[in-house]
Amino acid sequence: MQTTDQQLVAQAIEVAGRAYAPYSNFLVGAVLVGRDGRIFTGCNVENISFGLTICAERNAVFAAVAAGCRDFELIVIVADTEVPASPCGACRQVLAEFQPNLKVVLANFRGQSETFHLSQLLPRPTAGILDRP
Ligand code: THU
Repeated sequence: MQTTDQQLVAQAIEVAGRAYAPYSNFLVGAVLVGRDGRIFTGCNVENISFGLTICAERNAVFAAVAAGCRDFELIVIVADTEVPASPCGACRQVLAEFQPNLKVVLANFRGQSETFHLSQLLPRPTAGILDRP
């Protein structure tokens, strides 16, 4: 992991500390870096109606888009887990909307990390969708 990635992991851990997760107690932080260098963050926000919960990654994407940034370089996702936790399928699809081969760094609170490209985690995200003969 590069030094800058380590700094982003530290930032994501800080953001995870602000997660609202009273039901699962599973705190997730995401740091999304735009190609223009801007940084957007997200944490999971749960709801008593469980299905309304929004993951950390999607909150970071939505904040970026609202700020006018749609071109992303990488996302760092952290949780306090043994093995770096994988983003859920919904978040993979939302990330792929903007950058199907995004660099994805998954890390735990101890700084252990694994790096992927989104196309490894979600192949063929849009093939055939809305494509009619
Ligand atoms: N969660 C995320 O924020 N990101 C993920 O990639 C996986 C799951 C959140 C949703 C919920 O608040 C808690 O973690 C347990 O699933």
